[in-house]
Amino acid sequence: MEYANILVEVQGKVGLIRLNRPKALNALNDELMDELGIALQKFDADEAIGCIVLTGSEKAFAAGADIGAMAGYSYMDAYKGDYITRNWEQIRRIRKPVIAAVAGYALGGGCELAMMCDFIIAADSAKFGQPEIKLGTIPGAGGTQRLPRAVSKAKAMDLCLTARMMDAAEAERAGLVSRIVAADKLIDEAIAAATVIAGMSLPIVMMVKESINRAYESTLAEGVQFERRLFHSTFGTEDQKEGMRAFIEKRPPNFANK
Ligand code: HXC
Repeated sequence: MEYANILVEVQGKVGLIRLNRPKALNALNDELMDELGIALQKFDADEAIGCIVLTGSEKAFAAGADIGAMAGYSYMDAYKGDYITRNWEQIRRIRKPVIAAVAGYALGGGCELAMMCDFIIAADSAKFGQPEIKLGTIPGAGGTQRLPRAVSKAKAMDLCLTARMMDAAEAERAGLVSRIVAADKLIDEAIAAATVIAGMSLPIVMMVKESINRAYESTLAEGVQFERRLFHSTFGTEDQKEGMRAFIEKRPPNFANK
């Protein structure tokens, strides 16, 4: 399929999606988000893909929702039409891991999109922020919800209320990003991490993702119970047999993804 706002390629078992509206710093409009949703679903359904990387350009992961597109909306456009936000949660329905590789600006909806991914690898050039307050609006795709869970109430309040940007080092200290790499190594590092994941047993990878996400949606006792049930179920897979046999036989595992 031809996309107008994203670029899609495959590297080994990794699906790579690049946001591609360079003139608007990858501002996110409905067309782009529709295409992103389709591309993510296609990779999720593709047996040859084990992990997905989502990235932008050197200058911007995404500078937010498209301000020009939404500036004139009425309340009815926003609420009834559900413009801008209508398909943003699509990415949460993807069962394979999605890594955000962030260079440059990840602002507003761009920061929110990165936070919807399973983890963020940041270039040293990355800048994160929720500057919606300067536009007379508030974050609309999880900025006030995922950011405090990812960093802390204090830092989320600071960023959302002052609209200041946080650099990669501060984002790593705060726990928003899992690692920082030199900007020119970002894609290589993200693909390498995704390749490691894609070499694991896919059903087990999906269980890990599902279980960690459950930590955000349940009490600790419920989450631990959920994890235990999944843990028990791994013993019904061929890949658990292969993984443990390979360890005992001192050789690398060869997972059948069953
Ligand atoms: C539309 C945008 C844009 C955006 C940048 N551009 N961000 N267009 N929506 N969010 C466009 C500019 O208009 C400009 O187009 C071109 O991209 C380059 O941007 P400049 O501002 O000239 O670049 P620079 O001076 O380097 O500044 C970069 C920047 C700034 C600091 C990132 O562009 C900026 O502050 N952007 C807005 C960030 C923001 O407020 N994001 C939150 C949006 S609200 P032209 O045609 O002039 O060259 C949001 C709500 C989320 O995200 C709701 C979720 C559903």
